[in-house]
Amino acid sequence: MSANTQAPKITAGTILAQKGKTPIVSLTAYTTPMAQMMDAHADVVLVGDSVGMVLHGLPSTLGVTMEMMILHGQAVARGLKEAMLVIDMPFGSYEEGPEQAFGNAARLMRETGAAAVKLEGGVEMAATISFLTARGIPVMAHVGLTPQSINTLGGYKVQGRDEAGASVLEGAHAVAEAGAFAVVLEKVPENLANEITAAVPIPTIGIGASAGCDGQVLVVDDMLGMFTSFKPKFVKRYADLGTTAEAAIAEYAAEVRARSFPAAEHVFADQAPAAAAAKAPSKD
Ligand code: KIV
Repeated sequence: MSANTQAPKITAGTILAQKGKTPIVSLTAYTTPMAQMMDAHADVVLVGDSVGMVLHGLPSTLGVTMEMMILHGQAVARGLKEAMLVIDMPFGSYEEGPEQAFGNAARLMRETGAAAVKLEGGVEMAATISFLTARGIPVMAHVGLTPQSINTLGGYKVQGRDEAGASVLEGAHAVAEAGAFAVVLEKVPENLANEITAAVPIPTIGIGASAGCDGQVLVVDDMLGMFTSFKPKFVKRYADLGTTAEAAIAEYAAEVRARSFPAAEHVFADQAPAAAAAKAPSKD
């Protein structure tokens, strides 16, 4: 049985219809509590393969497996009632061809209840996207910086500056024509993101792209400031939870060492309060 048997309130069709109208709000999530917190605020909750770096300490997304995506996808599904759940296809689960992609996309959707998958690539993925969409699998595409290709891209650089912009634009056209319902534009120059947004009939969802995109997505741990070691230019920190959490942990450690935690209010008496009251002598 699927982890989430309710039909999603927001679907690929809803997102497509927001093109040029209402900005699409998207964030990544990897756990049930985080999904619950964003359910009323986000249109699309993405179980990104960034989970590998953010929660598992991997050096890149290349080590993320189907099993990791399914486990986190199921956790996120349990936290959502309204928002659309989209799940990333991990590296190596779709690139061989449309049949491999279909088998793994169907498994991700079946075992998590996700309403769509996301995969990286432009022109080279068009045939796969069209195969999936023709068989009931809504696809969110992802062009520009595609982190699963860092070894061929030469790192996490901005993509599409100068004449290279033409190939990002071509990729966005290709995925739209293939039937993707939206396309993530990652780390592309602002003007190129605006040009693509005007040119393609599907919503563009920017991350390090432009406020002119049809929507925005951020990695939730980045925008909450869960860690302080590194902040990409395109991330705005809306909170500083990492610093708050570390200060709380340090305070706890100091109190345990000083034996000031637990205090009287955190420990239990020999008798429950009700039993103690019943035993107390009557005032009559
Ligand atoms: O894996 C991820 O979190 C993503 C978003 C950054 C778009 O692909």
